[in-house]
Amino acid sequence: MIVYSGTSTTALGRRVAEGLGAVFADVEARRFPDGETYLRSRSTAEGEDCLVVSSTPGNDDLVELVLLLDLLRDLGASRVDAVVPYIGYSRQDRRFMAGEALSAKTVLKLVSGLSDSVTSVNCHFLDGEGVYEFHGMKVKNLDAFPLLAEYFAGKLEKPVVIAPDRGSLDYARNAAKLMGCEFDFLRKKRLSGDEVVVEVKDLDVGGRDVLILDDMISTGGTVIEAAKVLRDQDAASVNVGCVHGVFSHGMEKVAACVDMLACTDTLERGISEVSVSGLVADAFRRHPRTIP
Ligand code: R5P
Repeated sequence: MIVYSGTSTTALGRRVAEGLGAVFADVEARRFPDGETYLRSRSTAEGEDCLVVSSTPGNDDLVELVLLLDLLRDLGASRVDAVVPYIGYSRQDRRFMAGEALSAKTVLKLVSGLSDSVTSVNCHFLDGEGVYEFHGMKVKNLDAFPLLAEYFAGKLEKPVVIAPDRGSLDYARNAAKLMGCEFDFLRKKRLSGDEVVVEVKDLDVGGRDVLILDDMISTGGTVIEAAKVLRDQDAASVNVGCVHGVFSHGMEKVAACVDMLACTDTLERGISEVSVSGLVADAFRRHPRTIP
């Protein structure tokens, strides 16, 4: 097996290759003067099972992934499995208004059409761990919340886990179970793209070390608002873990309102303290031929 990675996920790709004892492919990726993407595989893909690990936080990353998947087929790979830990456009998974593009479906169509299987990590439009169908296309969804739970378990004395909204509810509840601590969720109402209001539900967080677990932080609006509300409730500390650290408005504003902030390496950030490489490697080690 050969592991390829996109430029946004090179460190993760390398870790997955190490975990699988596989070759990490040598790829030349650069830009033409007009901004178009140039790709060349210096590794031989012919007759090989190729695993392509690449998140798509931006349009260029998506183009790179699509070019790479198609290239590997052209080069005669025996199998091309796509691991897209963070799938861009995943929040446009329905038409919120008539006439809108169903972008999540389109992106998945591109990746799925050029690969033998698609695997993701806490994909926003899927409900839990396992194999799901989305508009007729199969996606295997891995859950990194247990890894976040493990990371914070050793750092917080008497934590209480909070899901900032219903989206991450089941994942966070399961993480709380693993940590052997209490759990609650907040009620969230989105006012605009980066404005939300949240309300505490039942639990008294006074004097407790709160751990907010979410699938992603994008603008940071949700977590910032949740941290404010929890501090008003006299939480002893407010800590945040997320799988995908998108940070479209930068990380500083979020970091400033919490005690500890960590994310995984589905997107490579300065605070990517938790690696999903073992999760990905395990998925391919145990079921090399049976994933969708
Ligand atoms: C929503 O359902 C998700 O779980 C996240 O809470 C949300 O996407 C975070 O977005 P933002 O950081 O822009 O508030």
